[in-house]
Amino acid sequence: MEAFDRTLRPLLYDPERIVRPFVAAGDRVADIGCGAGYFSPTLSRLAGPSGELVLVDAQEEMLQHAVEQVRRDPLARAQLTPILSADGEPSLPVELDFVLMSWMLHEVEEPEGLWRVLRRSMRPGGKVLVIEPRMHVRAARWEEELAPAERMGFARAQARGVFASRAAVLTR
Ligand SMILES: C[S@@+](CC[C@H](N)C(=O)[O-])C[C@H]1O[C@@H](n2cnc3c(N)ncnc32)[C@H](O)[C@@H]1O
Repeated sequence: MEAFDRTLRPLLYDPERIVRPFVAAGDRVADIGCGAGYFSPTLSRLAGPSGELVLVDAQEEMLQHAVEQVRRDPLARAQLTPILSADGEPSLPVELDFVLMSWMLHEVEEPEGLWRVLRRSMRPGGKVLVIEPRMHVRAARWEEELAPAERMGFARAQARGVFASRAAVLTR
């Protein structure tokens, strides 16, 4: 995965192109299931020194790697809060403007619990970008992942242009 993140992935999934439409300077953003931090430095750069970035992952090693990726980038200057959480219901410390969940929601046993957390922790109008690998997450599972959010009142729109992926924007 690390080699893929450094070589082929940036050609297919330019992180800045994918998240730039959603993040402005000063925003409070979260990368949930951040993994090795493929998107994390970009989120931090876009949120800027007056913004905040919350990193959440279930694996300590991954979380640490993501933190290092951010710290290594001199332009990634948002206030950083790493949170280790495996139960799908992290305690998020700030009211969030934007949440990214890339290639992670299919690993969460009970997506409803995570959506409940986001419903509580996001400002009205805040957005969640969900990206899932199209081949791995079939249409029925994709609908199951997003249905709880829609029941809770998130408005769903399709996000286009993410290679070989299912992608949606959910507005709180
Ligand atoms: C396939 S990786 C994707 C990483 C990154 N978002 C990316 O796009 O490269 C999925 C990550 O989600 C994390 N994860 C799975 N279930 C989780 C949960 N319930 N809470 C937090 N993180 C979780 C895993 O530990 C893993 O690092």
